Amino acid sequence: MTFLATLAIAATSLGIIPAPVSTEVGDGSYKMTGKKNEITFRVDRRMDLPSKEGYVLTVDRKGIKAKAPSEAGLFYARQTLNQLIRPDGTVPYVKIVDYPRFAWRGVHIDPCRHFLSVDEVKKEIDILSQYKINTMHWHLTDDQGWRIEIKKYPRLTEVGAWRSEFEGGTHGGFYTQDEIREVVAYAAERFVTIVPEIEMPGHAMAAIRSYPELSCTMEPVGNFANWGTSDLVYCPGKETMFEFMDNVIAEVAALFPSEYIHIGGDECPKTRWAKCPDCQARIQAEGLVADDHFTAEEKLQSYAVRRAEKIVEKYGRKLIGWDEILEGGLSPNATVMSWRGEKGGIAAALEGHDVIMTPGSEGMYFDHYQGDSRVEPVTIGKLTTLEKVYKYDPVPAALKENGKAHHVKGVQANLWSEYIYSDSQRDYMLFPRAFALAEIAWSPVEVKNFDDFCRRVDIACQQLDKRGVTYHIPIPEQPVSSLDRVVFTDKATVSFKTTRPMKMVYTLDGSEPTAQSPEYTKPFVFTEDVVIKIASVTSYGKLSPVRTVKVVRENWMPAAGVDKKELHPGLRTRIAWGRYVLPSDVPANVGWEYGMVKAPKELALQEAYDRSMQHTRFYAIEAWGYVDVPKDAVYVLTSECDQVWIDGRLVIDNGAEVKKFSRHDNSLALKAGLHELKLVFLSNVLGGWYSSRGHSDLQYRRLDEDEFHTFRENRVYYK
Ligand code: ACM
Ligand code: ZN
Repeated sequence: MTFLATLAIAATSLGIIPAPVSTEVGDGSYKMTGKKNEITFRVDRRMDLPSKEGYVLTVDRKGIKAKAPSEAGLFYARQTLNQLIRPDGTVPYVKIVDYPRFAWRGVHIDPCRHFLSVDEVKKEIDILSQYKINTMHWHLTDDQGWRIEIKKYPRLTEVGAWRSEFEGGTHGGFYTQDEIREVVAYAAERFVTIVPEIEMPGHAMAAIRSYPELSCTMEPVGNFANWGTSDLVYCPGKETMFEFMDNVIAEVAALFPSEYIHIGGDECPKTRWAKCPDCQARIQAEGLVADDHFTAEEKLQSYAVRRAEKIVEKYGRKLIGWDEILEGGLSPNATVMSWRGEKGGIAAALEGHDVIMTPGSEGMYFDHYQGDSRVEPVTIGKLTTLEKVYKYDPVPAALKENGKAHHVKGVQANLWSEYIYSDSQRDYMLFPRAFALAEIAWSPVEVKNFDDFCRRVDIACQQLDKRGVTYHIPIPEQPVSSLDRVVFTDKATVSFKTTRPMKMVYTLDGSEPTAQSPEYTKPFVFTEDVVIKIASVTSYGKLSPVRTVKVVRENWMPAAGVDKKELHPGLRTRIAWGRYVLPSDVPANVGWEYGMVKAPKELALQEAYDRSMQHTRFYAIEAWGYVDVPKDAVYVLTSECDQVWIDGRLVIDNGAEVKKFSRHDNSLALKAGLHELKLVFLSNVLGGWYSSRGHSDLQYRRLDEDEFHTFRENRVYYK
């Protein structure tokens, strides 16, 4: 038979993710009949491929043959074949020679902030392994929850696996050792290695809550149910903590056959160590002196990681940690996971250490947004589109130039779960970005092609549909910032875009759009009120969530008839201390304390931020007065306050939603001059987000501007 070899075309027509190294397409296809011997899969350990995970797959008129130097390679041949089989049971004639670019093709899962069941973990492993992901980094301990049963320390899961949420109710869960063995075995059948992470010396509140003797002060510790790092961390001044780590790692090593054990190492505030007699004694005893690069406490972090490395090695494993393990000097054999950009990874590789690239700034943080924060479910922030993930090359030029590229052992995406409140939302954040990860981890740069990849994503997403797994479809968004209520005085222009090329369909009669609705092709211009319903539609006819945008003619809101000369800069306030979810929760007879602020931003700052959140007081505050609007215009207003009232109208109401990246912007036609203003801000924790860590600004932009401005001191007044 003849093979028509062209890589790009082959990848398009065959639809395989990740794109194989080399694909030759033959003329014709093989019809599967279910006959014996039509498929032969064989391990040939002497086969010469650049990786043991590689394979050669041939389909011709005689049948289907796969050969690989290992069982893993055959497993990958099987995944490729599964993607080649057409609905009618035919398989195109091909010869595929394939092997991975990287040995570590990882996805990180965080059950600590929001727990996921064993079945969900297995489901993710099963799907990811079909796309040749071979590593699951299981983040098993953190401030908000300890998720692995440790027989020697039962309180870790009796106490540390549970937290009371601010809004009420308890969140938690943990994996028993039997369940862990079950997941490890399930993963092994799919050639996925599970790398457990046991965090130290920071991110340890759940452990410290269970065993307070592990901290510097050994003080009893209460609930910790909000996101962010705590400054209550393990005490490396005390031997207790290293005995604890040794005992924990002993049980962890017995459960996980992984070559690596991840010890975290990231985001460890050192304020407590600076004040702790035991930590200071350790610093003295070990001769850890500050130098031009590191403080003595940073060297203490390095000391703690070295001790952890000795423990991990005692159990025959290798240590891997986040790039902070570079602080104070790297442990001799450590592998570095570079998350704060590529800097740490480059530095470690130049010193001859192996690295895994997982930089958030380069698209490897799947907890980031996939589109406009005003239309997407809340996330931690930033924007990581499918294209951004796809464009990432894990080998930095600096390492290629220095002959150190071989130290990049792989690439990984991290899926932190602070803002992942359900299984379907986790899938939404994971897919289709995990497909892009799979391709950058496996395929050579030369066969990558984003347009073609998008077509293959459509095929993979239909497989997810068959399983009932949720995934992201770009949602129509407006330029600058999306808005569900667009006000106009004479004429409105409304336009839409998507984060990657998508067809958009709409209705203007209030009915729900379908794949057959008219296609959006150019900006709308309206002179009458209308409701736009608009969605993106995939090549296979599936709609994104539908946006509903009301376009409303309004009269100008006149300025108040007050003279600025009679006013004072700032806003009047009243504050009620207590725990409130909604403004309406504040009792009518509450004892208000009256006062003033210079600007809206102060509403969030009435209580000093205590990182351990052990003594935090919550409150409701109201502020009122006037806001000075610069000129006659239609303005978009945005705020993470609970409520914004202008001229007696409630214009922003964030309800009980997480008050991060408000999804309730509004527009108003405001005449220049002073308008009555009332703001309501609740300092509380909704969905784990401590609102006082955010801001209480009121921001504005003219509808035709591309940037928001803030109403500061010079624009608010009271009588
Ligand atoms: C991290 O995101 N703190 C590793
Ligand atoms: Zn200490």
